[in-house]
Amino acid sequence: MLKDSLKERIASKFKEDNFDILTPPDEKLGDYSINLAFILAKKNKTAPMKLGEEIVKTLSTDKEISKRFSSVTLVAPGFINFFIKKEFLQEELKGIYKDRDSYGRSKIGRGETVIVEYCGTNIAKPMHVGHLRSTIIGDGLANVYKTLGYNVIRWNYIGDWGTQFGKLIAAYKIWGDKDILKKDPMGTMLDLYVKFHQELKLSPELESKGQEEFRKLENGDPENRKLWEMFRDYSMADTDKMLEILGVSFDVVKGESAYEKVLSKTINSIENAGILKESEGAQIIELENLPPALIRKSDGATLYITRDIASLRDRIKSYKPSKILYVVANQQTLHFEQLFAVAKLLGLDQSELIHVKFGMVLGEDGKKLATREGKIIELQELSDKIIDLAKERVKEKNSSLGDKEISVIGKTVGIGALKYNDLKQHPYSDIVFNWDAMLDFSGNSAAYLQYTYVRLLNILMKVKDKKKGDSSLLNSLEEERIMKRILLFPESIKKCADLNSLNSLALYLYELANDANRFYESTRIIEDKDINLRNARLMMIDTVCGVLKNGLKILGINVLNRI
Ligand code: ARG
Repeated sequence: MLKDSLKERIASKFKEDNFDILTPPDEKLGDYSINLAFILAKKNKTAPMKLGEEIVKTLSTDKEISKRFSSVTLVAPGFINFFIKKEFLQEELKGIYKDRDSYGRSKIGRGETVIVEYCGTNIAKPMHVGHLRSTIIGDGLANVYKTLGYNVIRWNYIGDWGTQFGKLIAAYKIWGDKDILKKDPMGTMLDLYVKFHQELKLSPELESKGQEEFRKLENGDPENRKLWEMFRDYSMADTDKMLEILGVSFDVVKGESAYEKVLSKTINSIENAGILKESEGAQIIELENLPPALIRKSDGATLYITRDIASLRDRIKSYKPSKILYVVANQQTLHFEQLFAVAKLLGLDQSELIHVKFGMVLGEDGKKLATREGKIIELQELSDKIIDLAKERVKEKNSSLGDKEISVIGKTVGIGALKYNDLKQHPYSDIVFNWDAMLDFSGNSAAYLQYTYVRLLNILMKVKDKKKGDSSLLNSLEEERIMKRILLFPESIKKCADLNSLNSLALYLYELANDANRFYESTRIIEDKDINLRNARLMMIDTVCGVLKNGLKILGINVLNRI
């Protein structure tokens, strides 16, 4: 990576690595910028501009740097800017073109494991938009780490344990019907759960009935166990359907129930660490600057966080990961702050623990996404809607496509739209579902990127007598800009891992597509009489296609050969 090698080189020259390589706000100012003069000036108590001159002198005569950068300049108040050399870009393009299928992959993470936990649906409840965001962001991040050479464990930690299953079992025993459940499992389970809470207002004794059923479940009562398994199977089948539409799969599907048996051991270990306190009959861990973590209620029931502590221990022991990412909505911020604080007290902080939080999904009106009747929107409805809209748009765009093709293309465009709309923003932000913008073939959307890919591919397909191109013929400013963009692909992937967000990669691909489209519209590529120049340009276009394809793949989005 150009950025890393520049940093290393400068650091070794000045025996100082406490400085940043920045991207100047305007490309006229250069491709990279360093703040080294400020750092050294502070240490030596001199003026940054004065030191800057010396740094520039040293760096401009450095052989390694001159090979890559055409000029190194000092600008007030002391930034030093670097301009990538055209000849270097041309030379690099040759190698990238050769490896364009795997371009972007690196070995930065070799030997290290990262667990990325996402999705996390709850059984007996339908998967909702929060789980959708978690799945899209988590899968994208897992792809990033994989591309960087990490060993990645994709983990679905399903919510399949807790007192709510006692209520569901109680409700099913009173009002349930096997056949009705079978016909519409998710709807029926939700109805039962809702009914239980309605009836509870009239007959408060139901509460203890629910508790009783949960206790029986915990103690391995065969009937309750069987019911729970049935609910779980129905729910997982529903989740799997959605995951299949999204093209997402997991290495480990291990939920809260898997830790049920080790919870007393977990609580013992907390006790042995001397941090378990009794409080009004319950057991808690006191935390600095945070509310205490409730580990066991006075009625003996364990909690969400108790199971998370057990699971964390399992994750660390089984995989020795250097990082564990929890991709979970920002409503659970306090939960994860408590979990991470407990982890520290228990010495479970060998792995870097990161809560990748995200905001809500809003409708076009800026309100929480809901159906017209104000009910929560089901994921199936949502994905059906975007796919249907995508099919319409595709049909408008290309009337020569047959129904079958429209169906396949519509699905890829629709799911791409769903994912890109999420990933182009920083996860912290709420995202808005603006259906038109999501499918705008000329806006900042997956459809635009997929369409750009098809356009470029068409150029390549048209030329039958393609020969290897000579990149040293690519001399225009536009070509230089595209070559530079291509070279920066690995950096934009690395940035995703540094920030645990995919928006820098999405933006990068959008800008690359813009550059490529501008070039496409201003240049007669195929018609050029200069065959050598034509071939050189085709080689560049081919490489752009490779980057778009590999980059979109990281975002979980597929390209198409036709739209
Ligand atoms: N099942 C949870 C929910 O729907 C998400 C899982 C979060 N992960 C965790 N390790 N607690 O809210």
